[in-house]
Amino acid sequence: MRHRSEGHASQGHALGGHALGGRVALVTGAGSGIGAACATRLAAEGARVGILDISPEAAHATASAITAQGGQALPLPCDVSQEPQVEAALAALTSAYGDRVDILHSNAAALGRDVYGRDHSLTDMDVDVWDRTMAVNLRGAMLMVKHTVPAMTEGGSIIVTASVSGLTGDTDHAAYGTSKAALTGFVRYVATMYGKRGIRCNAIAPALVMTPTAHRALGPDRLADKAAERLLPWACEMEDVANLVAFLASAESRCITGQTLVLDSGTLAHRPEHTLHAWREAAPQE
Ligand SMILES: NC(=O)c1ccc[n+]([C@@H]2O[C@H](COP(=O)([O-])OP(=O)(O)OC[C@H]3O[C@@H](n4cnc5c(N)ncnc54)[C@H](O)[C@@H]3O)[C@@H](O)[C@H]2O)c1
Repeated sequence: MRHRSEGHASQGHALGGHALGGRVALVTGAGSGIGAACATRLAAEGARVGILDISPEAAHATASAITAQGGQALPLPCDVSQEPQVEAALAALTSAYGDRVDILHSNAAALGRDVYGRDHSLTDMDVDVWDRTMAVNLRGAMLMVKHTVPAMTEGGSIIVTASVSGLTGDTDHAAYGTSKAALTGFVRYVATMYGKRGIRCNAIAPALVMTPTAHRALGPDRLADKAAERLLPWACEMEDVANLVAFLASAESRCITGQTLVLDSGTLAHRPEHTLHAWREAAPQE
């Protein structure tokens, strides 16, 4: 446990410039989608960023893209569910960037066809789907926290990607949703255990985020359904998530800890059985 105080607001750094200059960040699942966008944003804010992903090619691609833009990034191929690999990734990060980690964004999830794509009916579920989901989504977050906190500076920030799927029920993806629900409890424990050392921990819970995978996986009907549920006309883009992560990583959010912040364009803020009816009534007749 380090005792520095670079994360305090008295140091006066603000977003939009080099708010995270001198900081070391680690983002898991940073090879694609939300993780890549958040890692790119943290690097743009001046942080040196570990790009951790189970896919070595994806980790290298994100790191190369960041360095091509003048940022500093280190590819860290690693399966977050495997403790020796997590230890080796942290050792590589601290060896490259010094014995400190200021920001952890634990974001990786098992979203492939082999796991999420088989997470359907509970009565037919293969136990390996449940176990792999929990191993990556939940144990992975625990292992990242376990091995990052000892190197974390006072003022450090841990951000965990949960999901609105952890805040509601669904007819599908019970393993995924349960793992995300557990993460919202996990962040309260981490915040409580390490708060007195000046370390914060929060979850972000997005609804649909328009990643390349989401664009590919959802057809026009599903996208229309999701648009109908939202209060706002727009869905969340990856940059919207990166904005929130950059805020939570910075001292601008120094009094926020143990929280789950929902990014859903107003999907959960209302009762669809009321609003959908009212919106239909209000729609101009053909
Ligand atoms: N896209 C959305 O609509 C959405 C909504 C809510 C929450 N989320 C959450 O956001 C996070 C990122 O999702 P995304 O949409 O960017 O997906 P994505 O598939 O684009 O990215 C996930 C990344 O995690 C990596 N990964 C998978 N297993 C890993 C492991 N064991 N160890 C290390 N890396 C691993 C993958 O290789 C991939 O690069 C996930 O936690 C997901 O549950 C996404």
